[in-house]
Amino acid sequence: MLAILVKDGKGPIENLYLGETPEPELKYGQVMVKIKAFGLNRMDILQRKGNYPVPPGASNVLGVEFSGIVSALGEGISKFKVNDEVFGIAGGGAYAEYIAVHETHLFPKPSHLSWIDAASIPEVFLTAYQALVVYGEMKEGENVLVHASASGVGIAAIQLARVRGAKAVISTASTKEKLDWLVNIPHGATNGVNYKTQNFAEEVKRITGNKGADVIIDFVGQSHWSRNIESMAVDGRMTMLALLSGTKVSEFDLSALLYKRLRIQGSTLRSRTVEYQAELIKRFADEFLGLITGQDGQGPIKTYIHKVYSWKKIQDAHRDMEGNQTIGKLVAVVD
Ligand SMILES: NC(=O)c1ccc[n+]([C@@H]2O[C@H](COP(=O)([O-])OP(=O)(O)OC[C@H]3O[C@@H](n4cnc5c(N)ncnc54)[C@H](OP(=O)(O)O)[C@@H]3O)[C@@H](O)[C@H]2O)c1
Repeated sequence: MLAILVKDGKGPIENLYLGETPEPELKYGQVMVKIKAFGLNRMDILQRKGNYPVPPGASNVLGVEFSGIVSALGEGISKFKVNDEVFGIAGGGAYAEYIAVHETHLFPKPSHLSWIDAASIPEVFLTAYQALVVYGEMKEGENVLVHASASGVGIAAIQLARVRGAKAVISTASTKEKLDWLVNIPHGATNGVNYKTQNFAEEVKRITGNKGADVIIDFVGQSHWSRNIESMAVDGRMTMLALLSGTKVSEFDLSALLYKRLRIQGSTLRSRTVEYQAELIKRFADEFLGLITGQDGQGPIKTYIHKVYSWKKIQDAHRDMEGNQTIGKLVAVVD
């Protein structure tokens, strides 16, 4: 089959190419899907550069989310049949014509959802749900701070927080264009803060009347650490999803952790066991998926696509993602 491969196994954008690779083999409990579209995620950049270990048993081909048509069934399949339209998540292998995936990791695609929209949903909404609801335990009336908020995951987290009844949803990003967009979408941010030109901890205190953020979704790490701690409310929770600015902080006073009773939680998704993921996917599907996809496409939460590419233009897509100017998801179609 054809797939997007990386010349020499890792390297710069120019090493991405469309080439031949063996079709995946179906294991027990897996379904083969002929892919129509796949979503891009920031971890694809890390993996392309050789800095993201592929989970054991997963394909080395990039890509963790996709939409497509069931083309074959492994043993032990009960929920799907050949020709079903689906979308889903995997440990790897979505930048390809075919993917073998656990049936627990697939959702039936509602007919009103396009292939492109469907491929853009699983990774960012599951990640946001896990960070905000499972770990952050966000409750109605709480204040939420979302960093890198124009990212796919950030936009998902903002909407989930609003729909769950957050009081303030404060978003940070690097440009006015992103922040204006984020406060203007339905169930968008209540406030936008430019972390490059404003002190976000001061802004959080001002917006929340000195209470602080009950839940923080952080992707940035190092450069935001001290201000994050300063921003947290008493009994606050912070879920850390990435360390985009760096992994080390030189000096840190631990007293706020103790006296504000703070909880800091690291979170990953791709490296979790298939059983853990299946449990999370089920809970997410029961509680939230309907709000995103809606039975008739009118759900309160939307997926926002920044740009769609032919998979033959995958280098352009990676270049745009590395440029940090995107708002929402990048999706490639297998054409
Ligand atoms: N742990 C998990 O389970 C998990 C799962 C999925 C994704 N993630 C992580 O979630 C993040 C978002 O993923 P995505 O695919 O949605 O990303 P994306 O759409 O590509 O957006 C990333 C945004 O992060 C911001 N950013 C980049 N470098 C930064 C820095 N040094 N300091 C502050 N902000 C910076 C940029 O916007 P601004 O600077 O304008 O804010 C950039 O547009 C990624 O870091 C990804 O690795 C984690």
